[in-house]
Amino acid sequence: MSVKVLFVCLGNICRSPTAQGVFGALVSERGLSHCIGIDSAGTSDWHIGHEPDPRSVAIARARGFDLSSLKASQVCAADFERFDYILAMDEQNLEDLKLIAPADYGGTLELLLAFDHKSDYREVPDPYYGGEAGFALAVDLIESASEGLLDQIQERL
Ligand code: 4NP
Repeated sequence: MSVKVLFVCLGNICRSPTAQGVFGALVSERGLSHCIGIDSAGTSDWHIGHEPDPRSVAIARARGFDLSSLKASQVCAADFERFDYILAMDEQNLEDLKLIAPADYGGTLELLLAFDHKSDYREVPDPYYGGEAGFALAVDLIESASEGLLDQIQERL
């Protein structure tokens, strides 16, 4: 049994690669890397092939997460055949995903923060045009929601 998870934001250079790295580290910590596949993508094509934003890489590294090997891609309709969980960082990402989702998608298409029952936030705010605090907040929100997400996935493994 394996579960595949795709994290999605707008550019795939800030929030969703951070989620890929943070969730991947947690999966590895719990010894589940052999049965959980993880990727990330953007709703836009603006940064295809680019490395994560250096601000995301730096804050992630300071918190013990390595984003250095990631490259941006764009989400596509075929992703709905490959992934059991497609998790959006904000409401706009979720709306954009719903536009390309097949009507019979059998997986979970949700906001990532729906898995964090303690958080006051519903979305991971886009940090791209702001300062360092937004990047730190993104890691905090993603780290907390990743625990809830993995708890749920572990129940079905
Ligand atoms: P992300 O952030 O969706 O978290 O990767 C952004 C990255 C790039 C842009 C906007 C948001 N941009 O406008 O290029």
